[in-house]
Amino acid sequence: MKCLGIESTAHTLGIGISTPERVIANEKSVYKPKEEGKGIIPREAAEHHRKTKEKVMERALKKANMEKEEIDLIAVANGPGLPPCLLEGVEFAKKLSKELNVKIVPVNHCIGHIEIGKKDTGAKDPLVQYVSGGNTQILSRSEGKYRVYGETLDIGIGNAFDKFARSLNLKMPGGPKIMKLAEKGKKYEKLPYTVKGMDLSFSGLVTEASKNKEEMSKEDLAYSFQETILSMLVEVTERAMAHTKKKELLLTGGVALNTRLREMNEKMAEEHDASFHVPKNEHCGDNGAMIAYTGIKFKEKAGKKIDINPKWRTNQYELKIKKQ
Ligand code: ATP
Ligand code: FE2
Repeated sequence: MKCLGIESTAHTLGIGISTPERVIANEKSVYKPKEEGKGIIPREAAEHHRKTKEKVMERALKKANMEKEEIDLIAVANGPGLPPCLLEGVEFAKKLSKELNVKIVPVNHCIGHIEIGKKDTGAKDPLVQYVSGGNTQILSRSEGKYRVYGETLDIGIGNAFDKFARSLNLKMPGGPKIMKLAEKGKKYEKLPYTVKGMDLSFSGLVTEASKNKEEMSKEDLAYSFQETILSMLVEVTERAMAHTKKKELLLTGGVALNTRLREMNEKMAEEHDASFHVPKNEHCGDNGAMIAYTGIKFKEKAGKKIDINPKWRTNQYELKIKKQ
């Protein structure tokens, strides 16, 4: 079985192809706002997806060394995400489904990040730290669903990195640039640290760090920002680890590329006798491969009808498949 997966929930138009055993193609085109330093404009991003989807699909088919007609199943991330972007992906899935006479599996984007992480690393039943631009959640599977143990109460952690980076006039995406600056920082300055029970809030920290204190170097400021935000995240994750007694920790999503976060998690997991896992780098940020692979895993959900689900939460996705 060969499944073609479509990712279009935000800035990335990704097309992946997977068999039950392995990913055989993972191609993408990433939207960049026309105006330097600005955030994503949903209509512009959707237009980017509309213009690039056919070409990206051609590249994926070529990479997989196959014809379009060999596709057995289409998977599409129909939520959560930006409505105009989601619509592009879903319309493309419907068109292909009609043309090739194959069914469509709806895939929750966040579950995609988790499933590809399990596939890449062999983790079976991990505590999940899902960290990306728009999302920050600590999750674990219980009774047929991923339950949320803690999450951000305002912006996603990647967006927090991006907002702070913008205040330093750095180009988007800002996360990797802050990480690089932070590596050169030496002096730690106390910044707002907001953990509320098992939940997190990042806005206060971003506002304070963005004031760009004259007396601090950019490097020290980035270092202080990164140490603070990652410590908040790891504190909550550690509590979930102690509570759930899971023996595996999986870090996934775009912010999983942060090497300091990997280091902190590894140490924390070790203290709890747990193993630590991260997907392949190309599977951390948004990609089509994760949607294709997850589509195969949940192929029993396939049908001919599909709608967008912009506010779909990770804990609403049924993992146990009900036979229809
Ligand atoms: P989601 O819909 O799951 O929220 P997304 O649209 O934010 O996904 P991803 O590709 O999963 O997209 O994540 C992108 C985010 O990851 C950006 O905010 C980017 O700054 C951040 N990021 C990438 N690399 C790093 C890094 N090394 N350190 C910190 N943040 C990073
Ligand atoms: Fe994502």
